[in-house]
Amino acid sequence: MLVDNPALRNYWYVVAESTDVDSTPRGVRLLGTDLVLYRPADGAVVAAPDSCPHREAPLSAGRVELGRLVCAYHGWTFGDGGRCIRVPSADAGTPVPPRSHLTTVHTVERYGLVWVCLGEPAAGIPEMPAEDDAAYRRINSGVERWEASATRMVDNFMDISHFPYVHVGTFGLADRTEVPKITMEPLDAGYFGYRYEAEVANESAAGASSSGLAAKVLTRVMTTGFTLPFTVRSTIRYETGLDHLLLLCSTPVDDVTSYFTFVVWRNDDFSVPGEEIIAFDRAIGAEDKAMLERIPGSLPLDLTATVSVQADKPSVEWRRQLAALLAGR
Ligand code: FES
Ligand SMILES: [Fe+2]
Repeated sequence: MLVDNPALRNYWYVVAESTDVDSTPRGVRLLGTDLVLYRPADGAVVAAPDSCPHREAPLSAGRVELGRLVCAYHGWTFGDGGRCIRVPSADAGTPVPPRSHLTTVHTVERYGLVWVCLGEPAAGIPEMPAEDDAAYRRINSGVERWEASATRMVDNFMDISHFPYVHVGTFGLADRTEVPKITMEPLDAGYFGYRYEAEVANESAAGASSSGLAAKVLTRVMTTGFTLPFTVRSTIRYETGLDHLLLLCSTPVDDVTSYFTFVVWRNDDFSVPGEEIIAFDRAIGAEDKAMLERIPGSLPLDLTATVSVQADKPSVEWRRQLAALLAGR
């Protein structure tokens, strides 16, 4: 199983949006491990194994009361940082057992997302400098569950040769099948990828909302790059100087199921509602999802197991680097 590889535990993954962690505990699964998320009184999201230290009841079946997580089975109660603060069956003067506290895992909120690392972080959270630039706004899209391997998702997000097939319903142009020679290079902010120009369809109302332009066909100046293990960033610059930056986060729930969320940053005039802006990206994501959910299993990391051509260079490079990470090199 890919998700059993210990090296993967030392990276950050998106398991929810910040707004998903509210008045109820939330159960999520990361790399085959069930976790509970809750927001205690001090506001710092806690993530811990979804198993009560008392009798292993799922804590996600409990409730959150005044910033405290209460187990549904015998009411043991957990507060800031996962500390057990009450065992209802014991009288008020008895201290809680020393091992009653939750064994929390690293959790950080950034870009409106909850990121979790099960081990010790070997790298930071992927960078998006636009987050701190007042000229840009951020638009979150929600977290979806895809019945697809995160390996298939990154392979797809690094790939442009599927545009004239999978994406003819949105931005793909059916006759633009040839992919120019790709050069992989370090991009800014820690991403490794390539620069290219893409002619895209701009026929739909959703597409026009996204581009802010009326022409039927547009040229976008783009970069697409990855950071290990499963994050992809695409940047789009239109001729007007409008930047549309996309962070595509794929989280392995297990080998064949993933969470997917995308986040957009834009230096537009903030006048069009965010949901209208990202409707086009949502439709594009749905096209990818429909294809990827038809492909069983993980993408083989053995490069000889599938046939690749020049247009697959970005994915081949990502797979090579991922295989090195998994091998501890
Ligand atoms: S199992 Fe949670 S309080 Fe007993
Ligand atoms: Fe796609």
